[in-house]
Amino acid sequence: MGENLTWLTHNVTKEDRSKIKQQKPCLLWVTGLSGSGKSTIANALESFLNEKKYHTFLLDGDNLRYGLNKDLGFTQAERTENIRRTGEVAKLFTEAGIIVIVSLISPYRADRQSVRELFQDGEFIEIYLSTPLEICEKRDPKGLYKKARVGEIPNFTGISSPYESPIKPEINLDTSKQTIEESIKKLCSYLYEKEIIQS
Ligand code: ADX
Repeated sequence: MGENLTWLTHNVTKEDRSKIKQQKPCLLWVTGLSGSGKSTIANALESFLNEKKYHTFLLDGDNLRYGLNKDLGFTQAERTENIRRTGEVAKLFTEAGIIVIVSLISPYRADRQSVRELFQDGEFIEIYLSTPLEICEKRDPKGLYKKARVGEIPNFTGISSPYESPIKPEINLDTSKQTIEESIKKLCSYLYEKEIIQS
């Protein structure tokens, strides 16, 4: 791989693109079990940033599986590829000067670490939704836990497939203990502290 290829240096850099947008691009990576609140938090965060006139893009796991990742299932290798591709796409978006939000179960630590390594220090922000499995299962918004329990969905995360929780996430949110507004407030304080947003 990489043989007979030459990396083309672009005239316009990430810094040039970010400067026009007057923002510091980064990747906000939301990880957690199905039903932990990832999509809700990711959507609410994007709305908040959009209202503040930041240039954002949300990459949602379920949605990506309709297109870019439609050839992938839920074995460990396929999830690894899902995370790798999404990380590379997120990288392109940050090169374009965009603040990217990714919402993926991304259950394996090593896969998330590989994505982190694509980014500069401080650019990859891991947001762990630590909502307990019992609560996610009780919520069961898509009825998938029910199916997984009776064996209708193989390799279901939390039931028949592992979820490796982050050891040192930048942010930890438990949506069973705090409201969406409280979670967004916590996220915003972090982004403000890191000078990603101004107010
Ligand atoms: S990941 O593990 O590869 O990161 P991803 O976030 O893209 O997963 O997709 C998860 C979504 O796929 C869930 O929200 C759920 O709707 C659906 N899904 C279907 N089968 C499974 C499964 N076996 N495990 C987890 N989620 C599944």
